Amino acid sequence: MTPRKLRFLSAREVAQALPMREAVAAMKEAFRQLSGGEAVVPPRTRIETAGPSDDALFMPSYAPAARRMGVKVVTLFGDNVALGLPRLQAIMLLLDAATGSPLAVMDGAALTAIRTGAASGAATDLLARPDACAVAVFGAGPQARTQLEAISAVRPIRRARVFDVSAEHAHALACELAAKLGLPVEAAASPSEALAGADVVCTATTSAVPVFADRDLAPGVHINAVGSYKPAVREVPGETVRRARVVVDSLPAALAEAGDLIIPMQEGLIGKDHIYAEFGEIVAGKKWGRESRDQVTLFESVGVALQDLFAAAAALTTAERLGLGTELTL
Ligand SMILES: NC(=O)c1ccc[n+]([C@@H]2O[C@H](COP(=O)([O-])OP(=O)(O)OC[C@H]3O[C@@H](n4cnc5c(N)ncnc54)[C@H](O)[C@@H]3O)[C@@H](O)[C@H]2O)c1
Repeated sequence: MTPRKLRFLSAREVAQALPMREAVAAMKEAFRQLSGGEAVVPPRTRIETAGPSDDALFMPSYAPAARRMGVKVVTLFGDNVALGLPRLQAIMLLLDAATGSPLAVMDGAALTAIRTGAASGAATDLLARPDACAVAVFGAGPQARTQLEAISAVRPIRRARVFDVSAEHAHALACELAAKLGLPVEAAASPSEALAGADVVCTATTSAVPVFADRDLAPGVHINAVGSYKPAVREVPGETVRRARVVVDSLPAALAEAGDLIIPMQEGLIGKDHIYAEFGEIVAGKKWGRESRDQVTLFESVGVALQDLFAAAAALTTAERLGLGTELTL
């Protein structure tokens, strides 16, 4: 019988195997296939765990054209920080869809952070003004960490500000990103200071209520909102959603999970028809992106399993080429 090999990639190896520009390209293709009906992406299964602030998500997907299927298991355990463990942990299993053979197991937390940033990068590429050069990042956790890198991969960013309710976290991330990206990155003392002059805004927080005021947004801003994934939780003010061109990663997932949209719908501020497009429709050229300099655009991301599949497949291809990771025999 043919020996079957499985490649294991640690968090560090995932990061090495998935440079941001490649991740952005992989996300565009994932969203194109998702919206084109070319992939099978069942709704993610949530298992109720014992703790009130805990979550376990099982996210399967299948892309026939790419000959890949897989599942990511993500756990979010609120009390982990006190135990010295990450709040979010994840593992990704990638399979060959032609034979069913397992191909790779990799750290899913690193994969998640890169692909979540890359989705914002892809959306910014097709929705932000071409001359966008200033960024505001809300949040200073692992998801926020990859947002600026992704935006910098698609626009010539000249400066950025980070706001977090923890000034210490904001300062640490600003220093880290300034060193990594070679940009002036400052910690902002308030949401309005972060937003002053920002062309691109990324919200990647665990806040349950809007993280900025609508009046503080500059005209023509593009917003990537990635933190809200439960119906009662939101980061973006209803007024901003109402006046923005709203693009979602997945329409069914957004309608089921995105508090940023569900709450304004419940308040009667918008209807379902206010959602302009799935991002994949814009990638495929079926719908326009931005139509004027002053238009406010909002990419609402709850995160879909096909992103993980395409990110993992891209990481595996590079890992095989560069000999990264550990090969195990099944
Ligand atoms: N869209 C996606 O694909 C996707 C993927 C993974 C995670 N997420 C979500 O993204 C969010 C961030 O994830 P993380 O792992 O970085 O979380 P984290 O807990 O590590 O960090 C969240 C940060 O947000 C800050 N924060 C909370 N309220 C704030 C506010 N009002 N203003 C500014 N900062 C505030 C916290 O202080 C913290 O530093 C979570 O809600 C997570 O579920 C989305």
